[in-house]
Amino acid sequence: MTQDELKALVGRAALAYVVPGEVVGVGTGSTVNCFIDALADSGLRVAGAVSSSTKSTERLVARGIRVLEAGEVSSLPVYIDGADEIDPRGHMIKGGGAALTREKIVADLAARFVCIADESKRVPVLGGFPLPVEVIAMATAQVTRRFAALGGTATLRPGVLTDNGHPLLDVRGLSITDPLAMEAEINQWPGVVTCGIFARHRAGVCLLGTASGVQTLVF
Ligand code: A5P
Repeated sequence: MTQDELKALVGRAALAYVVPGEVVGVGTGSTVNCFIDALADSGLRVAGAVSSSTKSTERLVARGIRVLEAGEVSSLPVYIDGADEIDPRGHMIKGGGAALTREKIVADLAARFVCIADESKRVPVLGGFPLPVEVIAMATAQVTRRFAALGGTATLRPGVLTDNGHPLLDVRGLSITDPLAMEAEINQWPGVVTCGIFARHRAGVCLLGTASGVQTLVF
C-alpha cells in the first residue's frame, strides 16, 4: 500500500471512535483530511466539529460539517489528529503543518486523543523530526540561543506564520528522551507560545496504518 492509502485506511478506522450526536475535535494535516472525507462520506451524524486550523475548517465546511468555536464547548469526547512522530508511550511531535498551538488547545478539551498515522511516524525516541516551536517574534533569537544550549539548532520556517500570526522555529538535533520534562522546560521560556512536544496531551490510542492493516496501539 502507498502512504496515501495507509492514511486513507486510518482515516476511515477513526470513524469507530466518533461519538454520534456529539461534537468531535478535528486536527490538521493530510491524514486528518482523509478522516474529514471519511466522516463526510460515512453518513455518521455529529453535532459538529471543533477545528484546529483554518485549513481543516475550510475542508469541514466544504464537506458540510458544522464547525463550532472552541469556546462553544466545555469538553469533547474525542480529538482525532495526526502526528509527525509518535513514541512507544504515545508521546508525539506535532506541528509539521504549523497548527500545533490550536491542536494542543483542542486536544486539551478532549477526553481522548486518537492519533491516526502511517507506520513511518512510529519512532523509538522523539527528535528525528525537527521540533516545531511557535514563538512571539521578538523572542526568536533568545529562544534560538536556549535551544543551542540544549544541543539543538533552531531555524525559522521560511515564509510561514501560524494561524495566530506568529513565526515558527524548527529545531534539529534534539534527542527527546524525557518528553514530559522537555515539554515543561521549553513551555516556560518567555516568548514560547507552544512547543510541538505533545507529552502532557499524548495519544490515548494510535491507529497505525501498516502493510497488514490497521494496528491499534493503546497507551
Ligand atoms: C499539523 O500541524 C501537524 O501536527 C500534523 O498533525 C502532522 O504534521 C501530521 O500531518 P500529516 O498527517 O500530513 O502527516
